[in-house]
This record gives sequence, structure tokens and C-alpha cells, in this order.
Amino acid sequence: MESFARRMVPWATQGFPVTENVLEIGGGSGAMAEAIVQANPWVRLTTTNADPVMVEVAQQCLVRFPHAEACQADATRLPFEDESFDTVVSFLMLHHVIEWEHAVVEGSRVLRPGGALVGYDLLASRMASLVHRADRSPHRLIDPGAFKPVLDQVGLELLALRLSFGGRILRFVAQKPATR
Ligand SMILES: C[S@@+](CC[C@H](N)C(=O)[O-])C[C@H]1O[C@@H](n2cnc3c(N)ncnc32)[C@H](O)[C@@H]1O
Repeated sequence: MESFARRMVPWATQGFPVTENVLEIGGGSGAMAEAIVQANPWVRLTTTNADPVMVEVAQQCLVRFPHAEACQADATRLPFEDESFDTVVSFLMLHHVIEWEHAVVEGSRVLRPGGALVGYDLLASRMASLVHRADRSPHRLIDPGAFKPVLDQVGLELLALRLSFGGRILRFVAQKPATR
């Protein structure tokens, strides 16, 4: 899992530098957070998750890294000050947030000017619907055309938007303008 996450991070971030004070939303087990702090020992990273059981798992995962922590937070109501992070990362979690647009709004709110929201997610497809119906996880898949208008609404500028796996996966890098 650890080496899988190490390979996933550069792909998921499209090589975009994950810098300084980093927030991960919906971080799950902490595997991606661990890979980020291993590759970038100078970053301070906070990984968050709505599920307290997963937060405990992530805390164990990050125990060796003094500049990393895991805490409970709903991505649609982040308990952080405005403009307090340089990078917000979101890996395969937005479609599990029913109101994923609110998570984008919150991610943008906590980014400092010049900071970036970086990640990837699953788009609506027949395959994704079948998988999620089978695993019974709460979800609301993102319609292919729905993501960019939400970025536009919150004032994030798209630096990179890529579709992979036959249009089923969306990777994104969106920046908060340096001066507002
Ligand atoms: C598919 S997992 C992805 C985990 C991790 N990002 C990764 O790539 O391994 C989705 C995660 O999002 C979390 N989640 C769902 N809704 C959330 C919300 N509203 N706020 C924060 N986390 C949420 C779930 O508990 C789950 O751990």
C-alpha cells in the first residue's frame, strides 16, 4: 500500500509541487499523506477525514513524521481559518461527499492566495455506478461537465485538467489567484 501510494502521488498531482503547509481532505488511511511527507520532508501536512476510525488509522500511519498530523474534519465544514494552507489535496474523495461542491468551496476558502487545490476523482460512468452500488458506500458521482463551473464559481483558476481511463477519472490542479 505504501509503495502504491508513493507511485500514485506524482500521478495524482500531475507533478505539481505540493508545498509548505498542506491540507489533505478525506485522507482515509493516511497512505497518500505518508507518501507526500516521505517525498517532501519539509512540508507540514494535516490530513483530515470525517470518519474517526480512519483518523486513528491515519494517526498510526503518520506517527513517525513529526510535521504530519491527522484529525477529524468534515470536508464541507473545515475547522480551519481562511487562507491557512498553501496546498489542499483531495484524492478520490469528493464523490463520497454528497455535497462535493461544498468541499470545493471550503478547500478554496482555506487556501492562501497563490495556493492550489490538487487531486483526482471519479467521474460519473456506468462502471462507477455499478461499483458503488455494490459496495454501498455513500456517493454522488461527479458529472463530467460539472467540475469546472464549480471552480469558476469559487474563483479558482484551472491550471491543469486531465481525463484518464477513458474519461472515468479527472485530475485537476486549480489555483487561487495571488491577488484578489
Ligand atoms: C475512497 S476513500 C479515499 C481515501 C484517500 N483519499 C485515498 O486516496 O486513499 C474516501 C474517503 O473520504 C472520506 N469522506 C467521505 N465523506 C467525507 C467528508 N464529508 N469529509 C471528509 N472525509 C470524507 C471517507 O471516510 C473515506 O475515507
